[in-house]
Formats: sequence, structure tokens, C-alpha cells
Amino acid sequence: MEPLRRPPERPDRLGVITHGSLSQGVEMKLEASESIEEVVAGTFVVIQGEKYDFFSMITDVRIDAANENILLHPPSAENNLLRQILRGSGTYATVTLKPMLMMRNDGLQELAEVQPVKTVPSHFAAVYRATAEDVTRIFGHEANEGGNRYFQVGEPLGMPGIPVCMDLDRLVERSNAVFGKTGTGKTFLTRLLLCGTIKTGKAVNLVFDMHSEYGYSARKEDGTFVKGLRELFPTRVVVFSLDPEGTRKRTQRTPDCDVYLYADQIEPEDILPLQETLNLNETAAESSFLLQRKFGRNWLLQLLQTPETELNDLAEAVGAHPASLGALRRKLSPFERYSFFKTEPSTGKRDVLEDLLEALRSQKSVVFEFGRYDDLRVYMLVAQVITRRVRAAYEEMTTTYLQTQNEADRPPQLVITIEEAHKFLMPGIARETPFGKIAREMRKYFVSLLVVDQRPSAIDEEVLSQIGTRIIAQLNDDKDIAAALVGTRDAGALRQVLASLDSKQQALILGHAVPMPIVVKTRTYDDAFYAALRSSDLPGQDFDSLDRNMKQWFY
Ligand SMILES: Nc1ncnc2c1ncn2[C@@H]1O[C@H](COP(=O)(O)OP(=O)(O)O)[C@@H](O)[C@H]1O
Ligand SMILES: [Mg+2]
Repeated sequence: MEPLRRPPERPDRLGVITHGSLSQGVEMKLEASESIEEVVAGTFVVIQGEKYDFFSMITDVRIDAANENILLHPPSAENNLLRQILRGSGTYATVTLKPMLMMRNDGLQELAEVQPVKTVPSHFAAVYRATAEDVTRIFGHEANEGGNRYFQVGEPLGMPGIPVCMDLDRLVERSNAVFGKTGTGKTFLTRLLLCGTIKTGKAVNLVFDMHSEYGYSARKEDGTFVKGLRELFPTRVVVFSLDPEGTRKRTQRTPDCDVYLYADQIEPEDILPLQETLNLNETAAESSFLLQRKFGRNWLLQLLQTPETELNDLAEAVGAHPASLGALRRKLSPFERYSFFKTEPSTGKRDVLEDLLEALRSQKSVVFEFGRYDDLRVYMLVAQVITRRVRAAYEEMTTTYLQTQNEADRPPQLVITIEEAHKFLMPGIARETPFGKIAREMRKYFVSLLVVDQRPSAIDEEVLSQIGTRIIAQLNDDKDIAAALVGTRDAGALRQVLASLDSKQQALILGHAVPMPIVVKTRTYDDAFYAALRSSDLPGQDFDSLDRNMKQWFY
């Protein structure tokens, strides 16, 4: 381990500790010279105790008076002098802090290790704003460990220019989540994290890109464009498109692989999670299993191709309720009109799913673009079919690897990103979907999820409890805030912090990949960011030639 030096004197003193307990957190009286209005929830501070530094977060602020009489006779609006005199003595501000980690500070710095908080600082211990060195000490730095482990995701509140990093090794070990209401920057943040895993090679990614924002350039709210993953990593990312025409029109680029889905590749279990979205009742969804029992892999074709007038016979033949079968057919028949959907048999045809697996096996991340099919039904069905296959393939690869124990057989760690995740992970269906299974099995098969969602309260609790690292942007609904923090220590204190986040580019990060919860202003996704990544993909070659190379790979 690198030796730790004693941090420089911390210059920014905020106040002293007055009350506190291990369970409830501690209270600080704010220095009279500090303005309460500049003390914000979520700020990273350090309490310098006698033997320990306590790394803490501001969770609440409040104003107090030493004597109620002052409040009954407040100074008049003009009497600034009296306000000044009262400030700090008669009237004062109390700031609640939640210590999250502690570390010895009494001379044994080189040996000091961060530990969970087991005690509280003593009376009148001084509280300081954290310094750059404190941040690095706790969160690591991109330059550490050969530059391949820590990835900068933002800066602490009120500390511009100081990097907060996440530990990518730990990040990819578990399923993770990005929560926040619409417009808070979830997609931008997710793209940032994906860049981190691709740059360092910590994981290959499969991104279900419902709104076509990840592959090629994506529009910002102000109308300007930002680069997509395919442009930033032309040798490590491929774009699969369900709507190649749309991709070409929008981006003037040709996707690496056009996607077709054959009716006989869809299984009844793929339909189950769509029940709510398609507004199907349970019997209707279940009649797909009855069809399959009789027709095998042709069940869907059979259903779609049976004329309306013969549906009753079909229902009788498979033992289904005619109305349910009719409903199922009505809900699925729009697929026949989509250009990516094929009703001929898939036998002997090129199997896009094989291409996709091949890309993943060769450590290429796949952005799966939906283009004009950004309809929830298509999104869910397609994501479902693909993930079922990917998961099965990974199970097989893992079994082989466990048998041979040959490193060459080791499946590359895969992260599957899904937006609108609650649709796949709702209570009741989370047990059935491949997504739910992946979230629960965790690392067993080298696959984990990156859940992106604006409604965490709609996600199954068991899945939520398996999430390793959470990045939570602003949420308004109390139920969502509670769900986003389910199973975390200090949820009570963090609730307050979450409620006070800005509506954009701010997030609370907590869990497996960070040593303690922290609020960050997320890293800006811009030219400076691309420049920081650039060194990682083949320098010196222009995009078009790299693009051509990649295309040859598929055709
Ligand atoms: N890290 C960031 N860098 C640059 N712009 C950002 C960042 N985060 C958010 N934004 C701005 O906020 C807008 C909304 O972000 P987005 O990720 O699309 O939100 P969400 O996915 O939560 O709806 C973006 O279009 C962009 O203008
Ligand atoms: Mg989004």
C-alpha cells in the first residue's frame, strides 16, 4: 500500500461538535463567521477528533436560539448591529453530521486505515470542510494502481475540480443502479460509467438503448450533440440496430449489424413480463404456453397466421379460452408490421443473436439501438428474448470454464444496461424474467445489471436489496426515495440529503464501489472528458478507417 501522509492542516473550519450519538449522528454549532446559507446538505466534512478523523456528511441544518425571549422580540429590520451581536451567541446555527468512516490521526498516519464508525468525536472537536487530499484518501484517484481501477465520476459538493472516483473492480462485481426522475442526468451518468468500464476493460457491455442515446451522437437538451460510445471507442463498441434506416438517417452512419427477429425465436416466457404493458390478462398470457405445447417453436406463427374466423377452432385444439387467445393475437399482431420482425422460419438464416454473443465473447461492447421502435412493447419483448439467450450462453460458458479452469475459457465480465428497468423487475415478474434472475444470481455467471430507472418503488424489493452500488439523482416521490435507499445503513439521514439535491447533474453515490456515501456534481460529459478518454483507444487512426475495420468484422 502507498504510504499515507498526514493531511495538510485543513483550512476551512466550520464549527465545533456539541451533541451527538453513534446512532443518530452528531451536531455541530456553526462558527459565527460562517453563513448558514452556504452550508448545504450533502457536503463532505471531516471532524478532527483527538485520536480519529471522522469523515462525515452534512445531513441537516437548522437555526436555534439560546433563549426563546430573543425570538419573541426579534431585532427590527434596520437593526443590523443587534443581529450581528446576537449571531453566534444568542442565535446560532446547528448542523447535523453523519460520520461514515473514521481513521486514526494521532501520528500513525502511515498505518492508519479507514474503518467503520464505532464511536463519536468528543465535545468541541473541530469540523472542517474536507480537503482534496481527504477526498483522494477515501475515494482513490484515477492515477492509482496503474490507472486501471478508479474512475472519476464527479466532484464533491462545493469542491470544484476535486475528483471523486468509483472503484470499478468493485462496481462490476455486483448489479448496480442509477435512479432519478426524468431529466436529472441518468442517461448521461450511465454513459459516463460505461465509458469507465470500456476504457479500463473491466467489463463488456450490452446496452438496451431504447431511445438511441448511447451508440452514436446524442442530443443534449440545449440542442447540441455529444459523442456516443461507438464514436469514443471505435474498436471496442459495436452498434446493433433494429432500425438501420433510422440510424443512418439520424447519424449518417451505418450500424455494424442490422437486427432481425424471427417469430420462432420468441418463447411464451418472453411474453409474460409484457402482460401489463400489453394489457393482457393472465389467462391470455398463459394461452401462449398452451399453443407452445401443441406447436412447439411455431406457436407464435401459428397464432398470427390463423385467420380470425378460425380462432375458435385453434382455441379448441390447444385447450385455450377463445377470447383469451383472440386478445393475445390482437396484442401481438402489430409486430407483423415491423420491418425487423420475420415470420419465415429462422432455420438456416443468419442468427443475429449469435453475432451478438460473438461480439461479447470478443470483448466488444454492444449498443442495441431501437431507433423508431422506441415503443415499450418492442423494447421489452426484444430485450427479453436477447437477454434470455445471453444468460443461457453465459451459463454454458461458465460451466465450461469451471470444468476446464482454463483462463481462456473465462467469460468476459458482462454488464447489461437496461433503461425503464422497473418494467422488467416489477414484483410478480422479477422472478420470471432473465433480468430478475441475473439481479438475484449476482456474480455467479459473470453477468450483472446496470439498472436505470425513474421509479425505483416499482422494482421488486428483493432485486433492490441485491444492488451493489446506487447512484441516486433527484427523486420527488417519497416512495421512490424510500425504495432507492432500501436496505442501506443511514437511510434516515440520507433521505434528507436526497430531498435536497439539485434537479440536474447531482447525485448521491453509495454502496459497494465507494467507501462511504457521497454527494457529487457529476462529471460533465464534454470535450474535456473525451480528451481524457482518448489515450485509451488506438491513437493516430481516423474514425472512418477504424469504422470500416469494425464493419468487416461482421460482413
Ligand atoms: N454529466 C452531464 N454532462 C453534461 N450534460 C449533462 C450531464 N448530466 C445531465 N446533463 C444535461 O441534462 C440533460 C438531461 O440528462 P439525461 O441524462 O438525458 O436525463 P435522464 O436520462 O435522467 O432523463 C442532458 O440532455 C444534458 O443536457
Ligand atoms: Mg434518459
